[in-house]
Amino acid sequence: MRTQVAIVGAGPAGLLLAHLLAQGGVSSVVVETRSEEYVAARIRAGILEHSSVELLESVGLGARLRAEGDQHRGIYLQWPGERHHLDFVDLTGRSVWVYGQTELQKDLIAARTAPVHYEVSDVVLDPAAARVAFIDKSGHKRILQADFIAGCDGSFGPSRNAVPAAQKFEKVYPYSWFGILADVAPSTDELIYAWHPNGFALHSMRSETVSRLYLQVPNGTDPASWSDDRIWSELSTRLGHGQNGWKLNPGPITDKSVLPMRSYVQTPMRHDRLFLAGDAAHIVPPTGAKGLNLAIADVALLGKALIASLTERDDTLLDRYSGDAQRRVWRCTHFSWWMTTMLHTSGDPFEAELQLSQLRWVAGSRAGATGLAENYAGLPIGY
Ligand code: FAD
Ligand code: DHB
Repeated sequence: MRTQVAIVGAGPAGLLLAHLLAQGGVSSVVVETRSEEYVAARIRAGILEHSSVELLESVGLGARLRAEGDQHRGIYLQWPGERHHLDFVDLTGRSVWVYGQTELQKDLIAARTAPVHYEVSDVVLDPAAARVAFIDKSGHKRILQADFIAGCDGSFGPSRNAVPAAQKFEKVYPYSWFGILADVAPSTDELIYAWHPNGFALHSMRSETVSRLYLQVPNGTDPASWSDDRIWSELSTRLGHGQNGWKLNPGPITDKSVLPMRSYVQTPMRHDRLFLAGDAAHIVPPTGAKGLNLAIADVALLGKALIASLTERDDTLLDRYSGDAQRRVWRCTHFSWWMTTMLHTSGDPFEAELQLSQLRWVAGSRAGATGLAENYAGLPIGY
């Protein structure tokens, strides 16, 4: 098989890159180890930044997002006894959208802009030759010969290890997120990020009838060890049920999962003809909702660079890709680390006082609030 760009991984980075390349007149073929049904149903992130929405709209992927997504002006930041609204539109002129990664993934699959080989195995990359070997769904060995490879295979794929002598930065956090999906109308109009002595809690949502909530839990927590009653009771405590008349409405829980948290950055994001994008090159803890948006920002840069190289023989952007992408990667890595360490409790009373002081300043000062808003609503693509 011959194509211009071989894309490894059909997550949001890989499928969006295929879409951007097709719009620029560049062919691609995607290989993916999982089934189409699996990648379409995976429950993950839920928030799109302003510039992610602008980019998706500009390439014809905004219709369902506009119709079914929910535009939010900001978030609530709270700690016991206090809840403050941060209005991003007022502070920065930018908003965010609640639109599940699952929905975006369905839109990307429905667009069908490039052939995707699902359920492949034994994927082997050759960065110097721009060649990807794999076993297809029917058990046949296939060779995909390209001009470039885009490694969009997330944190467990082979691409990141195909960059020799890469510099790797990593921080593992001593807590995880216990996430639930529930068939109940959200108890809030916008997301609530809550500091509490028992640990962080987040009230998010997916639609008018589906809520998404998270609790900070110790690493290694087994979701099965928490009863539904215990989950709702702990969420009520941490989110402040009963304070100033606010109520958390419980409902049937349809999904439970535990997500460990780490920060990881690998540099450079290129080796020979292989380019890394999204989780293949970096992981952020979920606080601040940057993972999906960073994957989108990477492929916005990479798509443009590959199109310039393949259609105009201009490698300037391609040669700059890793450095350009890393600027935003480190900004988001810092923001996610900052949100995480401000909101998750460690049991250390000194740290708790510092966190509360920080929260009061962020919520009470226009300068503090604007800093959070600018990072959360997202810097422009190309920052
Ligand atoms: P992925 O979505 O991981 O896609 C990579 C694809 O590559 C996958 O489909 C995988 O099956 C495929 N693949 C792997 N190995 C191979 C191979 N050998 N050959 C071919 N294909 C391969 N972010 C947030 O902002 N908020 C959240 O709440 C949040 N929750 C998350 C929950 C979980 C469980 C996880 C794992 C991530 C979460 N994230 C969250 C992060 C966010 O979902 C990711 O940043 C985003 O999915 C990155 O997109 P990607 O395309 O780079 O990688
Ligand atoms: C969601 C996930 C996040 O990491 C976050 O900061 C906000 C919302 C979500 O899944 O809805």
